[in-house]
Amino acid sequence: MDTITLHKVNRLEGIIIPPPDKSISHRAIFFSSIANGKSYIHNFLNAADPISTINAFKELGVNIKEEKSIKDRNFLIVEGTGLFSLKKPNKVIDCGNSGTTIRLLTGLLSACPFHSVLTGDESLRGRPMSRVIKPLRRMHASIEDNEYPPVKIWGGGLSPIYYDMPIASAQVKTAIILAAMLTEGTTVIRQPIMSRDHTEQMLKAYGADISVEGLNISVTGATELHAVDITVPGDFSSAAFFICASQIIKGSEIRIINVGLNPTRTGLLNVLTKMGANIEKINENTKSGEQIGSLNCGCPDALKAVTIKEDQIPFLIDEFPIIAVLATQAEGTTTITGASELRVKESDRITAMATELTKMGADVEQLPDGMIIRGKTNLKGARVSSHNDHRIAMALSIAALVAEGDTLIEGKSAVDISFPEFYPTLERLIK
Ligand code: S3P
Repeated sequence: MDTITLHKVNRLEGIIIPPPDKSISHRAIFFSSIANGKSYIHNFLNAADPISTINAFKELGVNIKEEKSIKDRNFLIVEGTGLFSLKKPNKVIDCGNSGTTIRLLTGLLSACPFHSVLTGDESLRGRPMSRVIKPLRRMHASIEDNEYPPVKIWGGGLSPIYYDMPIASAQVKTAIILAAMLTEGTTVIRQPIMSRDHTEQMLKAYGADISVEGLNISVTGATELHAVDITVPGDFSSAAFFICASQIIKGSEIRIINVGLNPTRTGLLNVLTKMGANIEKINENTKSGEQIGSLNCGCPDALKAVTIKEDQIPFLIDEFPIIAVLATQAEGTTTITGASELRVKESDRITAMATELTKMGADVEQLPDGMIIRGKTNLKGARVSSHNDHRIAMALSIAALVAEGDTLIEGKSAVDISFPEFYPTLERLIK
């Protein structure tokens, strides 16, 4: 059975190097594949989602070599084909569980002059695609107008557009940017709220003709990219589980090193500050265009509830499951709104967290676009499900560490999507 049983712990202590960033790992493969020459990617995330991206680009004729050096076990060399030389795939491309892979590929392949079909696992086949297909069809892409995968594309012949995005989504903007990079002329994208900006930052390093002014992004296509040598920082969203664990398990002391601190990703730190957390940023610097640093985390005497609204959501979108756990341990009523996007992630994360935390004795109310959590509650062990969602599995595992009695988590191997070493890391920190 794919289960793990966890129980209350005394405290957590130790140093963690979080796994490499998932979003940046995907993008490094995408951009290096369509650049000219050999790109060197250090500290690539060897987990199921980015591996789906590697396999897709191998199918599109890109030579990707994994070099197993002792110093850097996650080192890749990508031999880019240039913008216009990807090959027609011989089979349907399976994107597994990865929303980033299928959405970004839909953008890129809509501009490539061949037929391609993209699909994925059961969860991915339930995730909306029209958010990407609609703007691409406005660029004159030939894509079957289906809400869900499989996505059928007859690529090529695109024109630039001005696009006012109805939702804040880094996946959607990156899909349009990829299509625009293979299209003559200038495409302009306007975002309603800023979302993670790794694409914009990284593409400058690859020599793309991209500029950002406030919420507007302009991309001038048919500009060749050059290869890069890039080091992927630690994933803040993976570190988040341990950052939050250290705030609710009394006596904990954790140092998280080499973690990405791009401000479009670290909304959780602002929330934690408001809650009264005990976290100190040290050794801040920049590597491969991304802010990185270390975090010293200790457990405060108490946490207080917060209100989280729509304008903060994109900066903490992946941290919602662990924020829900935090809120059960904070004094007062936490309210999260403007987060309906959570219903279309790897699982419906609002229903998943409300259902499973209720089983553990939490006082949780679902809203159509968020959640109300009344704390502080003494959680109790229960039989809970990960809903086959990596972030739900990890959030519930942290909840189990403060609950009385045993918690059995079904579907624990969901963590392989972004953090295969999650359970060994946790075990090492438990004192
Ligand atoms: C991602 C963007 C986010 C995030 C996802 C990864 C990316 O999705 O939830 O885990 O790599 O671009 P949206 O920005 O589409 O909400």
